[in-house]
Amino acid sequence: MFKSIACLVVVSVLIFSCNSSEKTEKTITVVDGKDRYDVYQGSEMANLMRGMHAFNLQLKEEVKSGKITTEFPEEFLKIHTAIFSESKSRNQTFDHYSGKFVEAQKLVFEKDSVVSLTERYNNAINLCITCHQTECTGPIPKIKKLLIK
Ligand code: HEC
Repeated sequence: MFKSIACLVVVSVLIFSCNSSEKTEKTITVVDGKDRYDVYQGSEMANLMRGMHAFNLQLKEEVKSGKITTEFPEEFLKIHTAIFSESKSRNQTFDHYSGKFVEAQKLVFEKDSVVSLTERYNNAINLCITCHQTECTGPIPKIKKLLIK
């Protein structure tokens, strides 16, 4: 779609999602002649987080219907290694809460638990929120919508 590398102008709009709940996209605009393309450019961690959000949005419906058809996505373990956006980095707080989150998310798929499915699901989502309160508050309103009231 691009005629030559020379005609590409890449403009970075750095709006960090952690600081704002609206306009969370960090996009680059690629200009090719008269055409402009806005391309979402998330870090590996940001993309994983978006995936975790999308997955839990579906899982919420399953939990509400009481029937889980999915498994714990092994992909989520990438939270321990994924690369962050430039302004962020891995630290002890993150490692602490990511461990707790993974544990809680796994429990949702536990077959014989005495704790209700809804409660286990909400516990996992609350750990998303707890971690976000420590350093990335922007997405919290969006994450809260995942909770089952
Ligand atoms: C251990 C801490 C931690 C946990 C747990 C966590 N997050 Fe995040 N989340 C972050 C950090 C840090 C970022 C910023 C990553 C970056 O910019 O590289 C982020 C980014 C995001 C974003 C913005 C992604 C973007 O588009 O830039 C969303 C949405 C998000 N998280 C949702 C969730 C959801 C949903 C869960 C639970 C299913 C969750 N997070 C669990 C720390 C966490």
